[in-house]
Amino acid sequence: MDGDITQSQEWAALGKHQEELAGRHLRELFAEDPGRAERMTVTAGDLYLDYAKHRATGRTVELLAALAERAGLRDRVEAMFGGEHINVSEDRAVLHVALRMPREAELVVDGQDVPADVHAVLDRMSAFARRVRGKEWKGATGKPIETVVNIGIGGSDLGPAMAYEALRDYADAGVAARFVSNIDPADIVGNLRDLDPETTLFVVSSKTFTTLETLTNARVARSWLVGALGDDAVAKHFVAVSTNAAKVAEFGIDTDNMFGFWDWVGGRYSYDGAIGLSLMIAIGPERFREMLAGFRTMDEHFRTAPFDRNMPVIMGMLGIWYTDFFGAETRAVLPYSQRLHRFPAYLQQLTMESNGKSVRADGTPVTAQTGEIFWGEPGTNGQHAFYQLLHQGTRLVPADFIGFAEPYEDREGMHDQLTANLLAQTSALAFGKTAEEIAAEGTAAEIVPHKVMPGNRPTSTILAPKLTPSTLGQLVALYEHIVFVEGTVWGIDSFDQWGVELGKKMASDLAPALTSEEPPTSFPDPSTELLVRRYRELRG
Ligand code: F6P
Repeated sequence: MDGDITQSQEWAALGKHQEELAGRHLRELFAEDPGRAERMTVTAGDLYLDYAKHRATGRTVELLAALAERAGLRDRVEAMFGGEHINVSEDRAVLHVALRMPREAELVVDGQDVPADVHAVLDRMSAFARRVRGKEWKGATGKPIETVVNIGIGGSDLGPAMAYEALRDYADAGVAARFVSNIDPADIVGNLRDLDPETTLFVVSSKTFTTLETLTNARVARSWLVGALGDDAVAKHFVAVSTNAAKVAEFGIDTDNMFGFWDWVGGRYSYDGAIGLSLMIAIGPERFREMLAGFRTMDEHFRTAPFDRNMPVIMGMLGIWYTDFFGAETRAVLPYSQRLHRFPAYLQQLTMESNGKSVRADGTPVTAQTGEIFWGEPGTNGQHAFYQLLHQGTRLVPADFIGFAEPYEDREGMHDQLTANLLAQTSALAFGKTAEEIAAEGTAAEIVPHKVMPGNRPTSTILAPKLTPSTLGQLVALYEHIVFVEGTVWGIDSFDQWGVELGKKMASDLAPALTSEEPPTSFPDPSTELLVRRYRELRG
């Protein structure tokens, strides 16, 4: 909508409803409404969501759906899928959904036949991946590739790194992937240490191909390779993924070995396109396409399901509910899957770079909190670390629990134990344990308060049959669309990231002061000046 959504009737109605619900406990809500557990579920593709353990009722869902309508969510979804320039501050379409459209889809945006271009790149990636996997693509000395090192950062790293970890059981061609991102030399040095240049392929991934970290790491990798195999080896050991052919050529990578994408794909939304090349090489083009089909399943659900049966809408609007009406600051994401150990980190960029904004798309300041803080670790590790605060702390931390029915491989019933933990945690968080219950167990009176479990702590549980390329695609698309729903309600541009620019510029201005022989002269502020002086002293 135009203007300030917090001034709408729908917002006010939710405020009033929150006052009625704030003092209610989930124990009461379940007791009053025995059908709640069954009703407050939704299925999308292979994903099943239980949202009954939320501080919400059917009425809450109605009011949240009304707010989503008021925000113009329907039109906005169509605007995204139709290629309108909804990234207003950069005047761009937002078309990551086109990266998984079928070949026969029709979509022309700004004169470009989008599905045709997307599939041309996917076909080139597939052909290349097959050559590497089939050992036809040989290194400069004739040996096949055994390790692919993706050099990228942010969206050019987190997506493929997360997905490779998630799907590594499907990496079946004897080609391993590694990911180097940090400008900290420890990252590239540590990763190169045990690699053989003759069997290593570098995929330099950068949308802009101007990112300091990536280009620096790529230069180090090139020197390492050239030192061992000579200049001519570069062509066989370096490929690029970028939107910027000129910069790729300038770096010295043959643009025949470049896989492209377009400015309408945001970095954090890009691993289902060419940025996923390292993943595709590891798991194969067929699995990669299964993943794309998974994304598409969730896209279609998001586009067509009514709001009150729409998984991304329900989860996104619950994010608004807790952030703006309960004052929650963060959302924990707790995958009960070791393979998803990078999923929270991936979501941090997806969600926080997208929705960490203080002005609306028209430049006016927002008047409500935006941008949930996402964090998390896989269960059960988290249980033995920070769940204490989730259960008995003073803060409200809504949490998403993610589990799978079938493991890739099991030992001694471990997977059922894992799932039992997930289920136990969400139940304990919701229902807690009262002082009476604890006293009835014979606990000494003075200890009872320490053992009280307040409960009333909201969770979503997402269950899927198995972690596969398809279910991973569905899960990632789910969160992409949650971000979209929240950003639409907040009225912000979820697709730019101007807030990261200033720090980059200042770092490049400061770098000479750290290394020059001359005494440093100009500093942004006195505290930084002192730190620079101390750093130089320590460096000697
Ligand atoms: O600094 C933030 C950012 O621009 C991200 O949005 C992006 O994913 C990352 O840097 C890497 O950018 P590039 O792919 O252009 O190297």
